[in-house]
Amino acid sequence: MIEIYEDLKSKDHLPNISEKELSDEQVLVELAAIKKSLGSRVVVLGHHYQQDDVIAFADITGDSLELARKAAQLKDAEYIMFCGVHFMAETADMLTTKDQKVILPDMRAGCSMADMANRREIDLAWKYLTESTSEKIVPITYINCTAALKSFVGENGGSICTSSNAEKVITWGLSQGEKLLFFPDQHLGRNTCFKLGIPLEDMVVYDPRQRFGGLTPEQIQKAKVILWYGFCSVHQGFTKEHITMWRNKEPDRILIVHPECSFDVVQGADLAGSTSFIVNQIKAAAPGTKFAVGTEINLVNRLAREYPQVDITSLSPYQCLCTTMYRIRPRWLLESFRAIERGEPVNVISVDDETKKYALKALDQMLAIS
Ligand code: 13P
Ligand code: SF4
Repeated sequence: MIEIYEDLKSKDHLPNISEKELSDEQVLVELAAIKKSLGSRVVVLGHHYQQDDVIAFADITGDSLELARKAAQLKDAEYIMFCGVHFMAETADMLTTKDQKVILPDMRAGCSMADMANRREIDLAWKYLTESTSEKIVPITYINCTAALKSFVGENGGSICTSSNAEKVITWGLSQGEKLLFFPDQHLGRNTCFKLGIPLEDMVVYDPRQRFGGLTPEQIQKAKVILWYGFCSVHQGFTKEHITMWRNKEPDRILIVHPECSFDVVQGADLAGSTSFIVNQIKAAAPGTKFAVGTEINLVNRLAREYPQVDITSLSPYQCLCTTMYRIRPRWLLESFRAIERGEPVNVISVDDETKKYALKALDQMLAIS
């Protein structure tokens, strides 16, 4: 949290196109025109969780791995307008050249899970964990974290992963040492390690809010995997009870979830995978197939609209909305385009060279594995 908000303070631009100036409809018209006039100078990347009016302006959509890969390939774009959250824009900045600028249309678009681990806490945990065991610990971070944590991982011989390559990266990590420290998402870590054959008893949770993470040296010595306590509150909205409800109500409905969901939910579901995995499963489904989807509501609603021949509903009766992804609005996108047109780009995401050095090492490690 601290790292993100320090960044915000230093560039405290907030969108300023007032409601009076343009209606929502006019914003969309203006946006189409300015995007056309700026042409290939600006490439818009959109994560699957973005709202429809933003996705409509995206040149490329994808999950976090796909968007990171695409960003690295956009050699001709002067500007990359990242419609997603802060850690995704930071990643894109590190994978693009010095001359290219990555823009986050609303600087408040963070990720609450990424905020659950900061560099000071990780350094403290690392000291305690490495002093508690003589076995080699390999750090693996989910891409949902600040560049400072990516840098930590690069400095300590580990790798980054996303939800779509976590199995490959964790398998690699286990070949590099005896134990893993996985952060910040305990659920992705637990679900993936279990799938790879590691029993639950071999995993412990390090909670930075407790003294020594709440773990004794004996527990650390016995464990194969140390999971950071973090989680995604959006995906914790899906529960075992929802699984039971659908199984009783409609046993033929396929339950498909994101691996940020808790262990019981992933175990009870038929399929689990990244946002693009979910999109592709639905795309390939035969007409009449029924799905209950355990992921962010903007994506679920869009899939339901785009594939009317498939019966799609949310796994939860409540709206599981990622409010930070939702902060990116067409109005702020227009403001960012106008700033580029004026030659005074705002909300430029820039990771310092010192942090970038090792963070890039960890990102390259991930791209080499996946
Ligand atoms: P994906 O990599 O599956 O798109 O996930 C990103 C994310 O933040 C999910 O909550
Ligand atoms: Fe972060 Fe969860 Fe939002 Fe994904 S859905 S960006 S993990 S808060």
